[in-house]
Formats: sequence, C-alpha cells, structure tokens
Amino acid sequence: MTKYDLHQKRVIVSGASSGIGRELARRLCEEYSCRVVGIGRNEERLSAFRNSLKNKELFAYKLFDVSVRENWENFAAELEKEGFIPDMVINNAGFLLPFARAEFHSAADAEDILSTNSLSCVYSFSALLPLLRRSPAPAFVNVSSASALAPVVGTALYSASKSAVKGFTECLALDYRGEIYVAGVYPGFTKTDIFSHQKRKTENTLVEKLCLPTDKAVKRILKKLKRGKTRIVTGADAKAMSFFYRLFPNLTGKAIRAVLKKSGLEIFKDVF
Ligand SMILES: NC(=O)c1ccc[n+]([C@@H]2O[C@H](COP(=O)([O-])OP(=O)(O)OC[C@H]3O[C@@H](n4cnc5c(N)ncnc54)[C@H](OP(=O)(O)O)[C@@H]3O)[C@@H](O)[C@H]2O)c1
Repeated sequence: MTKYDLHQKRVIVSGASSGIGRELARRLCEEYSCRVVGIGRNEERLSAFRNSLKNKELFAYKLFDVSVRENWENFAAELEKEGFIPDMVINNAGFLLPFARAEFHSAADAEDILSTNSLSCVYSFSALLPLLRRSPAPAFVNVSSASALAPVVGTALYSASKSAVKGFTECLALDYRGEIYVAGVYPGFTKTDIFSHQKRKTENTLVEKLCLPTDKAVKRILKKLKRGKTRIVTGADAKAMSFFYRLFPNLTGKAIRAVLKKSGLEIFKDVF
C-alpha cells in the first residue's frame, strides 16, 4: 500500500447518509474496494444506501450524533473491539443554517453548529488518533467550506464553524507532518441536501444552477487525496473566492455581498 493510494483502505466517513459523504462512501467502496464505516443519524437512508451498493459487504454504518464527545469515544471503543483499524478518517458531517443576518440565529443555533461542524472534528481526532496511529499510512481529512476561504454574507455562524475546521486542520498538518497525512476540503456550492433546511425556496434558483453536481465534486476530492494534496478546493466559485481573497481581502467579501444581493434570490431575503 503506497502512502496516498486509496485502494483497499479502511475508511471512516461521517455524514455518509447523504450528499458528499454518501458519494465518497460509494466511490470508495465501488471503485477502490475500501472497507468503509459510515456515520449518520438516519438509519433508513444509511440502510438504503448500503443496499444500493454493488459490494454492500464493504460498507457498515454506525448511528450517532457527531456533536457529542462521548459518542466518538464509544465509537472508537467499538472499532477497537471489532478490530477495525482505520487508515483514513473523513470528517464530513455538517449542516448549514438558513442564510440570514446573525441576529436571526440564537445562542442555541451557535452551540449546535459549532459542536456539529467544528468540535466533531476535534472529538473525532482525539478519540481515533490511537487507532489511526496503528495504520501504516494514516490520513485525517476534514471537510470545511469555501466560506472559510472568504467571508460570505448571511453565514456568520456557518463561516465561523468552518473557519475553525480550517484552522484546526492546518495546525494538525504541521503538528503531525511526516506522521499523518492531514487534508482540508473546501467545497463551493455543491448540489446536495444541505439547502433543504433553508426556510425559503431554493428550487430552480440561480444557486441550484451554480451548484457543482455531487459526483463531480467527489471525483475531484478523491483525485486530490490520491495526490496527497493538503488543501482541496472544489468548484469554480470556491476557487475564485480563494484566489480573490488572497489578492483583495477587503474587497472580496463586499463583491460576494453585491453579487448575492443583486441575484434577488428568495433564500437571501433574510440577509438583505
Ligand atoms: N453542499 C455544499 O454546497 C457544501 C459547500 C461547502 C461545504 N459543504 C460541507 O460538506 C459537508 C457535507 O455536506 P453535504 O452538502 O453533503 O450536506 P447533506 O447532503 O445535508 O449531508 C450532511 C450529512 O451530515 C450528516 N450530519 C449532519 N449533522 C449530523 C450530526 N449531528 N451527527 C451525525 N451526522 C450528521 C447527515 O446525516 P444524518 O442526517 O443521517 O444525521 C448527512 O449525512 C458538510 O460539512 C458541509 O458543511 C457543503
């Protein structure tokens, strides 16, 4: 097994019941013959996904809420008991609050999104590190967001949660350089269920049209993981945000704001 080769690895994917996580799990099982343990809370969707796989024996799932530290500790103990030593952990589970000015979100919303999107990665790392270290080629991957590469109006709490993931990931990469392959993934708008929790309609909107199909995003993520990339940005929107923010940090957020305002889209009605 070479360092970045994905074939026949043992992989943990959180958020495997839907969207990016489900497609990652599918490709890892079907194209790379990986043994995947998926994490999610929706048993119906995880079971249906397992049954849809060509080689379903390669996929198992565990049901738990990633925002709770004890759940990760119990999960690690179960893996140890079952003799499942992961080679790669992909922390992908996460959610987006409805687009709105910060005043529309409560302290409970903040606690929920920070524990689900950010602290889950910390809990996952602490709980799984002892197992991961036993792999000959350990890898730890966190899915952040393009909103951590440049500020996006109306996403204060989400951006804060994903910026925390970015900082955590980049520091881990330095702390464990030469020991663990650590990568951060920064997707732009991707066509998944993530927008289904918006209070306002998203169907047939510009956002839907701008979204990269999930299979394309995941194909790119896996391609970059195979090359050992540490910063994986997917989608033209995310790449543009990253590029312009580096050159014009003050102007980029304002430009994104102007574009979203001009779009007149229903989902941004609580922002402008
Ligand atoms: N789609 C985009 O445009 C986009 C852009 C940038 C970044 N991202 C990031 O990509 C990741 C995947 O999102 P997606 O677009 O694929 O969204 P999605 O289709 O809504 O999938 C989210 C997944 O996360 C799981 N999840 C959410 N909260 C959880 C919790 N507390 N405990 C366990 N599992 C939980 C869900 O599983 P259950 O419902 O079964 O619990 C589901 O499988 C997220 O971190 C998201 O922030 C997405």
